[in-house]
Amino acid sequence: MEHNDKLVIEGLAGRRELAGRIPVKGAKNAALKALAAGLLFRDSVHLTKVPEIDDVSRMVELLEDLGVGVERDGDVYQLQTDKIKHSSICPKISAHLRASVVLAGPLLARTGRVTFPHPGGCVIGKRPIDFFLENFAKMGATVKNGDAAYELIAGGGKLKGADLFFRLASVTGTETFMMAGVLAEGETIIRNAAMEPEIVSLGEFLNQCGAQIAGLGTPTITIQGGELLTGAGQTYETIADRIEAGSFIILGALAGRDLTVTDFDPSLLESLLHSLRLAGVQMEVGVDSVRIVGAQPALTALEIKTHEYPGFPTDLQAPMAVFLTQTVGQSYIFETIFEGRLNYLETLERMGAKARIIDVHRAFIDGPTPLAGKEVESPDLRAGLAYVLAGIIASGRTVVHNIHYIDRGYESIDQRLAKVGVNIKRINR
Ligand code: EPZ
Repeated sequence: MEHNDKLVIEGLAGRRELAGRIPVKGAKNAALKALAAGLLFRDSVHLTKVPEIDDVSRMVELLEDLGVGVERDGDVYQLQTDKIKHSSICPKISAHLRASVVLAGPLLARTGRVTFPHPGGCVIGKRPIDFFLENFAKMGATVKNGDAAYELIAGGGKLKGADLFFRLASVTGTETFMMAGVLAEGETIIRNAAMEPEIVSLGEFLNQCGAQIAGLGTPTITIQGGELLTGAGQTYETIADRIEAGSFIILGALAGRDLTVTDFDPSLLESLLHSLRLAGVQMEVGVDSVRIVGAQPALTALEIKTHEYPGFPTDLQAPMAVFLTQTVGQSYIFETIFEGRLNYLETLERMGAKARIIDVHRAFIDGPTPLAGKEVESPDLRAGLAYVLAGIIASGRTVVHNIHYIDRGYESIDQRLAKVGVNIKRINR
């Protein structure tokens, strides 16, 4: 829900004072799709470690609107999926949620039709859905492009498996058609598939429940279509959020005295850890944690090029830029995935960073520069978190507005940061 809370942060002015442990929560971009996958089940789905974030509340609203029963106890969700009332994804709710687009796959595959608006979500680029429309047509659906919504109808009431090629390795595209393939007739192949761990985690769970998905974590995924799945006796444990973990590790590299980020798999963050080591950051990497302890040497500038998994995650690009403002020399950022994901640098410049946007994909950052607290407005989820990191290391006070963006993807961010020594308060205006 849109609220106008704000975060007030008193900065550390470069001091390394953060200490303690930050346990990582379940991944937003895994939980949202696992919830949507409930539409593939004849009976029920049991999910645990679901993060308490606004996007999950919205996805639950969308599912309930479709007729799914949802019971929640803390981070445990039980979905009753035996009765789907209709096939129209609520435009009001989905307007804010890019992940809502993944509902189209299972809904069309299960009911033979789906109506959905152009999905909303973070303004980090055009966010087209041409891959979805093109590939649903390949699976035999007719696509009617209305003024406010798309209406898709599966030929003969059932999607047909097809050989699909993605011009770009789309995360939600891969997830949507993996789910559609589970109920389609015959075999579906997804070529140039995304390999994100969240996709592997979802696909493995679906296989546990009767799906036949091969090639998870590779560029080619093959799905044999079959009947509705059964979730009886199965549990989906939400994979830890590697993007949240990475954001906290960057914070430790910037201001940690003895900070441990726990309850996640560091092997899923190899690209970030490799870059931080290259800059000179000393870290203790454990089986399910990373610890940043003691003073760090002078950190050196880096070249960061975002890339589909296992390359450097685009969702860590903005937090990493805050780190780069404190490294010695000229860093270079090449954001290859989105064309609107560098604008936050203007706000970092207002705080004292020396950044130069070359074009919609590339920028330079010269460091180190001290940052000074400012009033800033989160433009999206990940840039909002980057502003929080900048405010923590800056001198003076930073007020971050529009934090509903941050609440979409980070559970209780203020309370969790305050626990490790950040002077941060949430003000409900
Ligand atoms: C997912 O977005 C994530 N969102 C994003 O996280 C993440 O940044 C992104 O993947 C890349 O890792 C969710 O999972 C809900 P894409 P998605 O399709 O699937 C182009 C966050 O902060 N494209 O992988 O929408 C697209 O424009 C969010 O949690 C088309 O051209 O991204 C982009 O350039 C932000 N046509 C590229 O593909 C299409 O039909 C990759 O985007 C679809 C995508």
